[in-house]
Amino acid sequence: MKFNLFLLKFFISYSILFPLTADEKDMFNIPSQLLLDIGKEVYFSKSSDSCAKCHGDISSLDIVNKDMDKSADLKDPKTWVVYKALGGELKKNENPKKFEKHLNSIIINLITYGANDWNRKFYSNASKEYGFNWNRVEGKQQYDGQMKGIKIAIAKNILKKIDRTLKKEGYKINRKNLENIAAISVYRYVENQFR
Ligand code: HEC
Repeated sequence: MKFNLFLLKFFISYSILFPLTADEKDMFNIPSQLLLDIGKEVYFSKSSDSCAKCHGDISSLDIVNKDMDKSADLKDPKTWVVYKALGGELKKNENPKKFEKHLNSIIINLITYGANDWNRKFYSNASKEYGFNWNRVEGKQQYDGQMKGIKIAIAKNILKKIDRTLKKEGYKINRKNLENIAAISVYRYVENQFR
């Protein structure tokens, strides 16, 4: 009994000290089609700050109904700030897998937490671990606070809907992981619309 308690404590502190990485979060083992469906739901969600509101309808060939000129072209990752800040084509060619891994990890954090939190809490790690460098991006020193993340912009009823959808398919997901799933699934949906 005592031993079990010790183990339990160990696992709890371990998971707090070493939160799951973006890749490990994929291990919820949700089939990719289901993730895409959920991602689409999140992207077009009716909340006032849905991704579609600013970034437009990326399911169409030309982006339509785009509210915001300054928002990134989600169909072309080569135009993204992160692509440039990580060193662009040159760095990518050195080690495409590593480049993609770093890019995905940064973008999933940005989508989850939004620009303001990313600038404050994630930039320094991205700079140290991945070589993210603002000097490579002309005229920019941080992400535009207009880029809202899941934690700020997603309505609670969307999370509930995701929860219900997953339950129906037999996946029991801890509430605190729903936002991660929303972020990963919406990014999968975006990746699926690349030109
Ligand atoms: C209120 C407007 C707004 C909303 C809502 C919004 N974004 Fe953005 N997004 C922006 C702006 C503006 C930028 C450009 C940020 C910059 O370059 O500093 C951006 C940038 C991005 C980028 C590119 C980052 C880069 O490195 O260039 C991605 C990917 C992205 N958004 C995805 C999303 C997703 C997915 C959602 C929905 C969960 C979303 N955004 C919601 C305004 C928004």
